[in-house]
Amino acid sequence: MPTHFTGRTAELARLEAFLTAFDAGEPATLLITVLVGAAGVGKSTLAIHWAHAVRDRFPDGHLYLNLQGYDASPPLSPHQALEFLLVSLGVPPGSISPDLDARAALYRHVVSGRRLIIFLDNVRSAAQLRPLLPGTSGSLILVTSRSQLSGLVVREGAKRIVIGPLAPQDATDLMRSILSRERVDAEPVASAKLVSHCAHLPLALRIAAERAAIHPLLPIEALASELESGSRRLDVLTTYDDDETTAVRKVFSWSYRDLSPTAARTFRLLGLVSGPEISVLAAAALTRLPPDQAARVLGGLSSLHLLEVAGQDRYRFHDLLRDYARECVYEESEQDRSDALRRLLTWYLFTAEEAARACVEL
Ligand SMILES: Nc1ncnc2c1ncn2[C@@H]1O[C@H](COP(=O)(O)OP(=O)(O)OP(=O)(O)O)[C@@H](O)[C@H]1O
Ligand SMILES: [Mg+2]
Repeated sequence: MPTHFTGRTAELARLEAFLTAFDAGEPATLLITVLVGAAGVGKSTLAIHWAHAVRDRFPDGHLYLNLQGYDASPPLSPHQALEFLLVSLGVPPGSISPDLDARAALYRHVVSGRRLIIFLDNVRSAAQLRPLLPGTSGSLILVTSRSQLSGLVVREGAKRIVIGPLAPQDATDLMRSILSRERVDAEPVASAKLVSHCAHLPLALRIAAERAAIHPLLPIEALASELESGSRRLDVLTTYDDDETTAVRKVFSWSYRDLSPTAARTFRLLGLVSGPEISVLAAAALTRLPPDQAARVLGGLSSLHLLEVAGQDRYRFHDLLRDYARECVYEESEQDRSDALRRLLTWYLFTAEEAARACVEL
């Protein structure tokens, strides 16, 4: 469950209305809800929150799959996605056909008659999603995407909600929940300025709030002014879905500039990584830090919301932050960048060789 979940009352009410109408309708149909909006606006967080709230109404299981529609690596193909879903549903990997149509047919058969929540995160296109829609079932398909997925609304009758930034009041509440009500309410004007510099974008709000929490004696006014000052025109960022510019990049730079030299170097070198995730050991190779220190630094970056936890000893970037780290990495000399990359690739080669040897020995 996301911590500090704030706001989204209207969106949750609409989702609830969709589900109520669905429950009152034909039993063997699908409810497809699609949350669309810009990067970092809070689609996945809302989807997780709602799925958690309604999980008891779908007693046959809950599946999650990241379709990687916007990662640096290619999106998951329907072929790969079906395999993952089938294995999650308990089908032995050996009995899954390599043929796409056969996979889709088996999937429809396994899901048929089960009331499941199938959460498909970061869907790139309707074409990527369609093979993952079971024919008939009382299941809830919960989709997030930065694309509009209009074809899904027209052809499959999906219920779409456009997720925008938080309402100003909710953005302030998010600050209150991280910083304390007293601190935010003591400086209402500065707090309003701070949330507006974050474009009411939850991703930026959380980073700004975590930084403010680290400086408990600093007036919020000082933080807000810091975001306002400097090379503001250079520090604007264009969001993915439209041309709206925000000071979000400035929020990132503000956190980055405040990191210890080791953490800042780790952050920018991580910008060289092109895969979706990185392990602590691979990051240690990249940065030439001892593994326990690399683990501490990555943990510290994630507590500042500059990285996300992707699993046991694994981390990933939100891609707005990856883009930012990629810019920062040019602070390293060309030699240092290529040395770091070589250490990382050597590490991957070494682990691949180890894995291959283990397979041969099996
Ligand atoms: N309603 C909320 N209350 C509190 N925090 C939130 C809320 N919505 C989002 N956040 C925080 O904002 C950050 C970004 O949210 P999230 O990952 O859900 O965005 P997204 O729209 O799914 O982005 P992307 O398109 O990149 O997947 C997360 O750190 C999350 O914890
Ligand atoms: Mg998301």
